Amino acid sequence: MIYLDNAATTAVLPEVAQDMLEVLTATFGNPSSIHAAGRQAGKLVRQARQTIATLLDVPPRNLIFTSGGSEANNQALIGYALANRDKGNHIVTTAIEHHSVLHTVAYLRDRLGFDVTIVKPHPDGDFTPDLIAHALREETLIVSTMYANNETGQLLPISDIAALVRDHQAVYHVDAVQVIGKLPIQPRTLGIDFLSASAHKFHGPKGVGFLYHGDFKFDNLIHGGDQEEGRRAGTENIHSIVGMAKAFQIAAEQFDTNFDKISALNKQLLSGLAGLDFYLNQFGEATLPHVLNLGFPGINQDLLLMTLDLQGVAISTGSACTAGAIEPSHVLAAVLGDSSVKLQESIRISLSDLTTSADIAEFVRILKPIVTNHSLTH
Ligand SMILES: Cc1ncc(COP(=O)(O)O)c(C=O)c1O
Repeated sequence: MIYLDNAATTAVLPEVAQDMLEVLTATFGNPSSIHAAGRQAGKLVRQARQTIATLLDVPPRNLIFTSGGSEANNQALIGYALANRDKGNHIVTTAIEHHSVLHTVAYLRDRLGFDVTIVKPHPDGDFTPDLIAHALREETLIVSTMYANNETGQLLPISDIAALVRDHQAVYHVDAVQVIGKLPIQPRTLGIDFLSASAHKFHGPKGVGFLYHGDFKFDNLIHGGDQEEGRRAGTENIHSIVGMAKAFQIAAEQFDTNFDKISALNKQLLSGLAGLDFYLNQFGEATLPHVLNLGFPGINQDLLLMTLDLQGVAISTGSACTAGAIEPSHVLAAVLGDSSVKLQESIRISLSDLTTSADIAEFVRILKPIVTNHSLTH
């Protein structure tokens, strides 16, 4: 299979799987138990927390292990909003966030009465910090933006936004799920107060992630035992936590080489497509080379995806399948409008350091006859 859907999830590295297997089979104690088996398991969780803390340059006690990026986003937004309502009830976020942010702020608005401003990018898709500056109010409690968009790879100006929010009472939450493991990031240096990550986007296991948090008051999302310094109850997902730390460590050792490799693959793909009739959905000043969002005029994205799938190629469209209905991409709609035909044409190709030059060459070979034969028109 040619796997070009790495923004959805990545393959677990063999070294990561090996470490996880060892934990599953040998270190099955409960970290809350006092006996040696429990202490041994607790040590693994502490070591993993230390590894991640060192890579982010934050104190280990400022990390909460979660079930992934969605929980980290929910924890930051709901937890902080509920605990700090006396300071204000206004939340600012962007129209191109992942649903784990957009649906969470909608919940805070619709069920709990928070006032939410959803900031749209400029008409050309650029997202400049002044858009956030205009939305900020005295009573704003939280500003939440992603670092890189999962559908287009667009990088948001997080350090400029952090600088804006620094002079304000609001905290700044960054959904860095698409960036952790790809670019070095130090939340404290940047002035980020909460940062969400998910292991399965950087060759770790699914169902585990973390939230970095500054020393703020915020409510728990999951109540019960005293795990995670009393911040998140439940017996730790030890093998996944160990796998996540290992995957992060490996990614961090190769930040530069991986970035260069993926930039070269991106270029190879674009030059392979030269001569075909296509457009790029690339917005703003900077984009991760890992994600290419593009469309072929007149070619339906779902038919293209299925045709490629039948030929062993995995890509995705930005649309989400919810309750059996296909919803067009809210990210592209925020820029192009709800009625743009591009919403039915655009596909996402996403690369990882495991993608090879041969994968790209084969993908281009398979794709070319499909898009020049007009049976996939809509
Ligand atoms: C930007 C972004 N945020 C959050 C998430 C959710 O992460 P998880 O799948 O770990 O819940 C994703 C996953 O696609 C994402 O791309």
